[in-house]
Amino acid sequence: MAGNSLLSVSAAATGRRLEGKVAVITGGATSIGECIARSFCKHGAKVIIADIQDDLGKSVVEDLGTEIAVFVHCDVTIESDVQEAIDTAVSVFGRLDIMVNNAAICDPRKPNIIDNELADFEQVVRVNLTGVFLGTKHAARPMIPARQGSIIMIGSVCSSIGGVASHAYTSTKHAIVGLVKNAAAELGRFGIRVNCLSPYFIETPLARSFFKREDYGRSGGAYSNLEGVELKQEDVAEAAIFLASDESKYISGHNLSLDGGFTTINPAFGLFSRFE
Ligand SMILES: NC(=O)c1ccc[n+]([C@@H]2O[C@H](COP(=O)([O-])OP(=O)(O)OC[C@H]3O[C@@H](n4cnc5c(N)ncnc54)[C@H](O)[C@@H]3O)[C@@H](O)[C@H]2O)c1
Repeated sequence: MAGNSLLSVSAAATGRRLEGKVAVITGGATSIGECIARSFCKHGAKVIIADIQDDLGKSVVEDLGTEIAVFVHCDVTIESDVQEAIDTAVSVFGRLDIMVNNAAICDPRKPNIIDNELADFEQVVRVNLTGVFLGTKHAARPMIPARQGSIIMIGSVCSSIGGVASHAYTSTKHAIVGLVKNAAAELGRFGIRVNCLSPYFIETPLARSFFKREDYGRSGGAYSNLEGVELKQEDVAEAAIFLASDESKYISGHNLSLDGGFTTINPAFGLFSRFE
């Protein structure tokens, strides 16, 4: 029986959906990335937390247990750092099954394009796009000979619509969907799946740095198409487990929206308009 099928059998036996798998999670020291790392471990995975926040990353690893989690200082804009994170997964845990390209930043909140600084724009491109390219490139190194793997980019509602965040953030979040499609096209022949997971607003340091309370809907909470439901980091982690596990074994090149319909409807005009 092939290695991957053996993992599926043991996952089915334990109910832990990532049993035996090894993941690298960039930006895994806090917020959504941390939640993904913790959830992956609960489902039997071993994780490398790759982040620039060393103290936070190390404390998450201590908490998870050093037998199943390792911290690697990794700035996703530096190729040797990304290479080191992937190499650590293989040298410590023997394989790489899942890559989560989660690390991202937002530039300062400046709603007038004329005030937008080139240096800020370029730094967002470096982290949110070049970093995701490097993560995908280096994850492919061990995945290609293993002829399997799941690469997940964390996109956003800004991956498919405009008007929510800055030009830099929106451009890079759209761009990684293009990278998903291209990488899925190339890597499919090796059995490697590449997908994007695009959540709506969750109140994290990144979101707080960009959005102000007055951006929120009239109710004082962030506007949501789905009333009575609030998106949580755990929901993103659940969707990431699905894309990482063999349950999604035929899904590749896809952008999975986790936004309660926000990007597929326009509430401003029409029969179901919410704004009068
Ligand atoms: N919070 C939201 O509302 C929201 C919505 C949709 C998508 N997202 C996406 O979810 C992902 C996580 O966002 P978050 O809200 O948890 O952000 P966050 O700022 O709370 O956490 C981001 C993590 O990435 C790390 N990081 C930043 N730059 C890095 C670099 N150069 N190298 C390595 N690590 C780096 C940070 O240290 C931090 O641990 C991002 O891709 C973001 O675009 C967030």
